Amino acid sequence: MQIEFCVPCLLGLEGLIADELRMMDAANVRAENGRVLFSGDEYMLARANIRSRYAERILVVVGSFEAHSFEELFQGTKRLPWEKWIGKKDKFPVKGYSLNSDLFSVSDCQSIIKKATVERLKDTYGVPWFEESGALYQIQFSIMKNVVTLMIDTSGRGLHKRGYRPEANAAPLKETLAAALCNLAHLRHYHTLYDPMCGSGTILIEGALMALNIAPGLHRHFTAERWLQAPAEIWQAEREAAVALQKTDVDFHAYGSDTDPEALSIARENARRAGVADYITFEQKDVKDFAPVTEKATVIVNPPYGERLLDVKAAQEIYRTLGKRFIPAKGRSYYIITADEDFEKSFGRKADKRRKLYNGMIKCQVYMYFK
Ligand SMILES: C[S@@+](CC[C@H](N)C(=O)[O-])C[C@H]1O[C@@H](n2cnc3c(N)ncnc32)[C@H](O)[C@@H]1O
Repeated sequence: MQIEFCVPCLLGLEGLIADELRMMDAANVRAENGRVLFSGDEYMLARANIRSRYAERILVVVGSFEAHSFEELFQGTKRLPWEKWIGKKDKFPVKGYSLNSDLFSVSDCQSIIKKATVERLKDTYGVPWFEESGALYQIQFSIMKNVVTLMIDTSGRGLHKRGYRPEANAAPLKETLAAALCNLAHLRHYHTLYDPMCGSGTILIEGALMALNIAPGLHRHFTAERWLQAPAEIWQAEREAAVALQKTDVDFHAYGSDTDPEALSIARENARRAGVADYITFEQKDVKDFAPVTEKATVIVNPPYGERLLDVKAAQEIYRTLGKRFIPAKGRSYYIITADEDFEKSFGRKADKRRKLYNGMIKCQVYMYFK
């Protein structure tokens, strides 16, 4: 079956997601602002969920149309082939958002879309009501500049939830963003990765998963695993294909340190759950004593920002320390993600390259030093 997909993503990650989907043989990949569209079959549905490192979730696009009134929204929704997806007993709640559109009341749009879907399915199945006791088909709508897109979520919990991080310290980095930082740093399976303020270890764990080519979704479940359209053998085949791509003979190693012993014990536990504990060495250490133990080093760090953990002055003091410890040398590269626009001033050097990314709602920059 040919399926259209939509991937909502963190702003700034669209290009990375488009690239990884192309590597998975997705067809017709288009990156837009905050989302990536592509097409494929039911194997692609499972593959994108299991393998994507940067996507927030994978949605199936049921259809799209323009609507300026509730009547247009109702008729447009009712015209779509919902029965292709939703069975007689399935659950189909509705949620979504509207931006810059005539139809701005989300709760009204939500109930109109629900009513129109019910009407369509009533006609198809010839039943007066739906018990909604079966598999979950979460309908998601987006209305942007009067264009309505109706989708169904295949993922369930966000794809950043890999399953290895049930506990987290005060300000963990989203797994998808940590993976994106490793990609920006061109991390390879023969590199040595350092995070001297590693907190719960997200950057190091995502780096190890990437170096070993371990699919991030291998050990979790997805909503569409209960769908008729994506039977168990498809998921099993895609899990087996992902396992076959794993690397075992790698030179990769990672070193993590932090001053907080509790964060370090969470990090160790997370690394163990992710199956990468043998590739990461953790140590309690202040960043002021940071010095790589290898000649070549890829250093990625997510220091505290003034507005979140410490006051601005203390954060700037840390950036000054980083500037002293992150010494330019051949084979060494440093990547620092922070929301502090004056970072370079405290750090003491202008970055060789910068990249804007969003950590949740917080606008950040990745400052890159490799010369
Ligand atoms: C924003 S958090 C990092 C979160 C991490 N990326 C994660 O995903 O969990 C900043 C970390 O810096 C640590 N930290 C603060 N001051 C430090 C210092 N002087 N030396 C080393 N670590 C420090 C904190 O304990 C905290 O874990």
